[in-house]
Amino acid sequence: MADWLKNAIFYQIYPQSFMDSNKDGIGDFKGIIQKLDYIKDTGFNAIWLNPCFDSPFGDAGYDVRDYKKTAERYGSNEELKELFKQCHDRGIHILLDLVPGHTSVEHEWFKKSMQPQKNEFTDRYIWTDSVWEQPDGLNCIRGISDRDGSAAVNFFSMQPALNYGYAVPTKPYQQKPDAPAPTATREAIKDIMKFWLDMGCDGFRVDMAGSLVKCDPEYKETIKLWQDITGYLKTYYPDAAMVSEWGEPQYSLAGGFDMDFLLHFGPEGYTSLFRSEKPYFSKKGEGTPTKFSELYDVSYASAKKHGGLVCIPSGNHDMDRIARYRDFDELKCCFAFLLTMPGAPFIYYGDEIGMEYMEGLVSKEGGFGRTGSRTPMQWNSGKNSGFSDADSSMLYLPTSAAPDRPNVEAQLNDPDSLLNEVKKLIALRQANPALQSYGDFEFVYCRDNRYPLIYKRSSETQEILVCVNPSGKEADAVLSDEVRGKIIYSLGGSAVVNGKTVKMPPCSACCILMS
Ligand code: NOJ
Repeated sequence: MADWLKNAIFYQIYPQSFMDSNKDGIGDFKGIIQKLDYIKDTGFNAIWLNPCFDSPFGDAGYDVRDYKKTAERYGSNEELKELFKQCHDRGIHILLDLVPGHTSVEHEWFKKSMQPQKNEFTDRYIWTDSVWEQPDGLNCIRGISDRDGSAAVNFFSMQPALNYGYAVPTKPYQQKPDAPAPTATREAIKDIMKFWLDMGCDGFRVDMAGSLVKCDPEYKETIKLWQDITGYLKTYYPDAAMVSEWGEPQYSLAGGFDMDFLLHFGPEGYTSLFRSEKPYFSKKGEGTPTKFSELYDVSYASAKKHGGLVCIPSGNHDMDRIARYRDFDELKCCFAFLLTMPGAPFIYYGDEIGMEYMEGLVSKEGGFGRTGSRTPMQWNSGKNSGFSDADSSMLYLPTSAAPDRPNVEAQLNDPDSLLNEVKKLIALRQANPALQSYGDFEFVYCRDNRYPLIYKRSSETQEILVCVNPSGKEADAVLSDEVRGKIIYSLGGSAVVNGKTVKMPPCSACCILMS
């Protein structure tokens, strides 16, 4: 496990929308470099960069055409290398987005595998033996070349699935994961990882990591595959970190990933926090924390077992913005929680200023309903929100026109802003080992349909009680032990501690350093 994960706090950058340095209306590497000081000053020490590789952009870059070449619109390989260096100069680690499950139909491998004549890439993808036969349980591409077969797809219909084999092959076209072609695919992915690691990146966020071996309900073969790849990394790149888009840490961490996310798909516990019909983090106070706690107990046990981390993101490019239905007081409570939980926090660009979900946008690059969460970063209240000097009509996506739109400049100048609260919370986390990635965790007060939520974080030297009351009403909890200690953080008014009782003002949070 890379040592730097002990206190990593990630910032996710969607490169299209972060900062445009060359006035073409789209973000780029140089733009990111210009904003690294902002990222560092806010307290982040790690970045996950969404795909930045050559692509026809049918799925915002998750349809890779060339894994070893950056997309021209972001800059050259050399410029990405410079971004790595600039990050490292500031003590920031940076993960690239690895998409091992599928490529674009325009990838050279797929073009070769479409040929009817047998060649090195014939089985790089999953092809049935006849154009009339559909691969088991998967959508497919068919009839677009002279090859007599259907090619399985992994996501959108222009993203053919790479062949890592089937857990239990039942048809002639299905191969075992250790057959020559699936083994060659796996080696090709290792080679791509090596390419970028040698250039200076610090690891990968892995797209759809659980999807590689097909018909593998218990993930047995998928886990073996990842053990092979992560084993290779541990030998040759021991400081590299891997986070999976999987959402089931009991499997991903067994595969050797350092971290997994709780996500908006799979078990519903994560959604119940901020995004369900009655989220727990709402002033309405109609939510329950127990859907989350049930999921978290299982996930946290896996993290402990495997020495890995479970990461709770504020959002990402696939979810509604956390601010879609939350006001700023509610958002502060959300961040008080996100930044005091174990695992490495992942904050989606713009969430730290409460950037809004932009309603009613036409889909861009396969975004569909996700498009509203992908609009340009709002740096100031000027032209194009300070994102770009291009004519507004050229922007990748429009910026908000609301005169009071959240923006970095205004929030930096306002001591009560969300951004300043986030900075305070990050500083608190950095100053207190118990609050960091591996600090122990235990629910202390977590009851069905009840507020507040109280949990204990501890390290060898500290014990901290974190109390959060996202509801709009005063709430109290009677604990089994007396609470004695010093309040080291408080939000939304002071909690009153009396013996075993903690009484909390509406929409508030506090951290008590126990003595
Ligand atoms: C998950 C990514 O986060 C999403 O944006 C993408 O569309 C799919 N995987 C397919 O790669």
